[in-house]
This record gives sequence, C-alpha cells and structure tokens, in this order.
Amino acid sequence: MPFFSTPHIDLIHEHIDTPRCFLLPFSVDGRVDIRELAEEFCKANKDHYVSDFHPTYEEEIDFVLSIVEGMKRGELFENFIFDRESLKFIGCAGLNKPEPNTMNIGIWICTDEQGKWYATEAYDAIMYWARANTKYQYLKHYLDPRNDASRKLALKFAWIKQDYSNERGDEFYHIPL
Ligand SMILES: CC(C)(COP(=O)(O)OP(=O)(O)OC[C@H]1O[C@@H](n2cnc3c(N)ncnc32)[C@H](O)[C@@H]1OP(=O)(O)O)[C@@H](O)C(=O)NCCC(=O)NCCS
Repeated sequence: MPFFSTPHIDLIHEHIDTPRCFLLPFSVDGRVDIRELAEEFCKANKDHYVSDFHPTYEEEIDFVLSIVEGMKRGELFENFIFDRESLKFIGCAGLNKPEPNTMNIGIWICTDEQGKWYATEAYDAIMYWARANTKYQYLKHYLDPRNDASRKLALKFAWIKQDYSNERGDEFYHIPL
C-alpha cells in the first residue's frame, strides 16, 4: 500500500534540494560507490545506533537493490545526500517502516561530515517532502538513549516523546508534520 498522497509520484526519480545539498533516491547506478557506502555506514554505525547490520560490500549491494524495489512498490523512500558544490557523498536520509498512520524517519551522516549541520538540513528537507507528499500527520523517530546527537536532532523538530519503548530500550518520538 503506497504511503504517499501525491498521485503518480515516481519515488526513484525524486530530487530534493537543500541549501547546501541535494538528495537522490538510492540506486546502484554509480552515483555512490557502494563499497564506500558500506564502509562509511559501518563507521557511522559503529555503536549500532542505526541497526545491528554491518554490511559487507555484497550485502550492501543486495540491501540497496532491495530498497530500490521497495521504492518501486511505493513502500519506502531512502536517499543519498550529496554536497552541492563538491558532489561529495555525505550520508543517507529517508522514510521507512510504513505503518497506517506514520513512517520512521531515518538518517546517518559520514563520520568526517558530522557536526556540520548536514543532518539538520537533510532532516528538514525530508520533513518538508513528507508534509507535501504523504498522508501522515507525524513521523516517528526512535533512538538509542545514549545517542545524544539523534535526540538533539529530534528536539529541533517539535518532538513529542512517547511513553512506550521496544526490546532494545529505544526512545520513541513523534515529529509533527
Ligand atoms: C545523529 C547524526 C545523524 C547527526 O548528524 P550531524 O550532521 O552530526 O548532526 P547536526 O550537525 O545536524 O547536529 C544536530 C545536533 O546534534 C548535535 N551533535 C552533533 N554531533 C553530536 C555529538 N557527537 N554529540 C552530541 N551532540 C551532537 C549538534 O550540536 C546539533 O545540536 P545543536 O544544533 O543543538 O547544537 C550523526 O551523528 C550520525 O550519523 N550518527 C550515527 C548514525 C545515527 O545515530 N543515526 C540516527 C539514528 S536514530
């Protein structure tokens, strides 16, 4: 069941601009070196804040291809983030885990680029896109309680902390659109 409200939207050809960056949907067409993607993700996810998944190159290719198929089915929306001037790969941001009333907003930034407000910028752009293109009133953001940077990010966007958790003890926030 597609999550978006805009008719005829083609998720794999979306393009989102931010002041310093642009976001393009996941692909294996060479925009991003998948080996670099796997290495950068493993570095950024060293504390398992995103998931327990630490992919090899081959696993990362399979993962990206599975996301592309998911986007073709209209089930999720995952993007690479690029610096507009240098065209450098900065990280990933998107929407996943669709539920009847919400989706999860997910983001990670390459370790060398963290602390430069790239996540803030990409998060803002995904929120703006979701406001215009989804049927939802809010997005879900969950985080490991030790993840101060992720909590600060949620706090910037009018968070509402929820009183439930999961088996990992994560904090859940609703981010109104
Ligand atoms: C969370 C993450 C995406 C933030 O990316 P970023 O580009 O560094 O974030 P920003 O520069 O936009 O900063 C967002 C806020 O976090 C703060 N922050 C950034 N790095 C921080 C750190 N290591 N510790 C504490 N606060 C931090 C910033 O100061 C800013 O808050 P402020 O505006 O109130 O000062 C990044 O740390 C990351 O990729 N972490 C690993 C993956 C991850 O945890 N993803 C989120 C899973 S829920």
